Amino acid sequence: MASENEDHDRSRVAELALDLRNVPKSAAYAELEDQLDAVLAGITDEIAAMATISAVLHHAFGHLWTGFYRVVEPSLLRVGPYQGTLGCLEIAFGKGVCGLAASERRTIVVPDVNDFPGHITCDARAASEIVVPVLDSSRTLIAVLDVDSSQPAAFDEQDREGLERLVKWFARPRMRQAVET
Ligand code: SME
Repeated sequence: MASENEDHDRSRVAELALDLRNVPKSAAYAELEDQLDAVLAGITDEIAAMATISAVLHHAFGHLWTGFYRVVEPSLLRVGPYQGTLGCLEIAFGKGVCGLAASERRTIVVPDVNDFPGHITCDARAASEIVVPVLDSSRTLIAVLDVDSSQPAAFDEQDREGLERLVKWFARPRMRQAVET
């Protein structure tokens, strides 16, 4: 459980409610990393972290869809915490951008979704996309982070670097707390 000090820091930082659309990307991601470090201090629950990261990223950049697909069976992704319109429920490894990023464990940047064979359309307004694999501290793939934009070619190297750095939160060693009932 988070301490009282951590709760205080969290509410102070949350008041900032960052809108980073007019900030250069590298500075924006650095700021987001600081904000998330403060908001997630003392948190060990991965789903709570996914929900928080989705919300912060989504509102900071005004994306179309921002969220996680979790690995729930070998070779199967299921939708996790997200912000945006209804997402597809399940995606097999190898299918769509998410499934390819999962099976190849690498970030995929798609400047134009119409040029990506097998792209899975959840929202017809999606024009470009980036999908980043999420690894835990033992380098097991636990999810992918999917971000969609209605703008063509919205994502570049800076997004790749920024998002890959953000999802390193999941690779930090942390103790899961036992639930006492
Ligand atoms: N476009 C993704 C599917 C997920 S939705 O965009 C939320 C894909 O091709 O894997």
